[in-house]
Amino acid sequence: MTKQERIYYCQPVFRPPSEAYSLLIQVTEGCTFKCDFCISNLRKEFVIRDVDEIKKDLDIAKRQYGANVKKIFFLDGNAMVTPTERLLEITRYAKELFPRLERCGVYAHAKDILKKTDEQLRALSEAGLKIAYVGFESGYDELLEKVHKHAVKNDYIKASKKIMDADIILSATLINGLGGANNPDLSNKHAIESADLVNKICPDDNRIWYIAFLSLMVPPGTIIFNRKIKGEFKEMSSTEVLKELKLFIKHINFHNKNANCVFRSNHASNYLPIKGVLEIDKNKILATLNYGLTHSEILRPDFYRGL
Ligand SMILES: C[S@@+](CC[C@H](N)C(=O)[O-])C[C@H]1O[C@@H](n2cnc3c(N)ncnc32)[C@H](O)[C@@H]1O
Ligand code: SF4
Repeated sequence: MTKQERIYYCQPVFRPPSEAYSLLIQVTEGCTFKCDFCISNLRKEFVIRDVDEIKKDLDIAKRQYGANVKKIFFLDGNAMVTPTERLLEITRYAKELFPRLERCGVYAHAKDILKKTDEQLRALSEAGLKIAYVGFESGYDELLEKVHKHAVKNDYIKASKKIMDADIILSATLINGLGGANNPDLSNKHAIESADLVNKICPDDNRIWYIAFLSLMVPPGTIIFNRKIKGEFKEMSSTEVLKELKLFIKHINFHNKNANCVFRSNHASNYLPIKGVLEIDKNKILATLNYGLTHSEILRPDFYRGL
């Protein structure tokens, strides 16, 4: 029996929910950052893989799936950190192998984006890198510092503009409950500053862009988990999380009323599934949140939540 050739993965791997049907290609392993809440870099030494090894994986994918691959997601936690020439080579090679390829996607820390020039981002976009998933987590600098995100609100504003100017779709995530329980002032600032960040990055045109809220999970092995064990961190209740999200939504006020911002809070970590377009659906979203706040029986139980 011949041994079946396999695409290389450094497990565990994480990808955005919207890349569920994409071909996953391991470009980097782990992450160059170590945010307090994240499991992406646990048990992994950071590596940028050899381009020839990555091309071999793309060749295997072609033999296994044929030429029909439409979406590729480049793993791992911040594959955008890969030097531009290498990312370009991989993206162009993928495009040659898969003529129907619609887009390649990548996780990107804001600092990885800021390190690239506008010309480099434009070249990546033209080669086929069409969506970047950026973890904002919050627009409140003090909270970002507290969780060791190594980025501030202004970095997100600049990085978002660079991504949009390069015609790469922005998909950003924020984390509900990131500041923990019993700190209403921190929670309010997190919600209001995050809304202000999203207002500030709103483009003038009606291109599609994505904003998603996850709800904080505290996985074993993370720094935040260790703080929880020591009694230094307490998770918010579902009510506190929904109130925080409500405050965020209330403060959304785009200068462009035709903006096409797809808003989601329907990840497995969330208590209440919410989908809409901001800010057209603002009132509908607020009504859904009010319903969730008064009908706790419809909320996802904690034991069903996950990352
Ligand atoms: C794998 S990370 C990649 C993002 C990218 N590296 C960045 O930092 O910009 C994807 C996102 O998952 C979310 N996430 C990670 N750990 C989480 C946790 N413990 N609870 C909730 N969301 C989490 C964060 O929004 C994070 O940005
Ligand atoms: S949130 Fe992003 S930057 Fe931070 S450790 Fe996770 S993957 Fe890396």
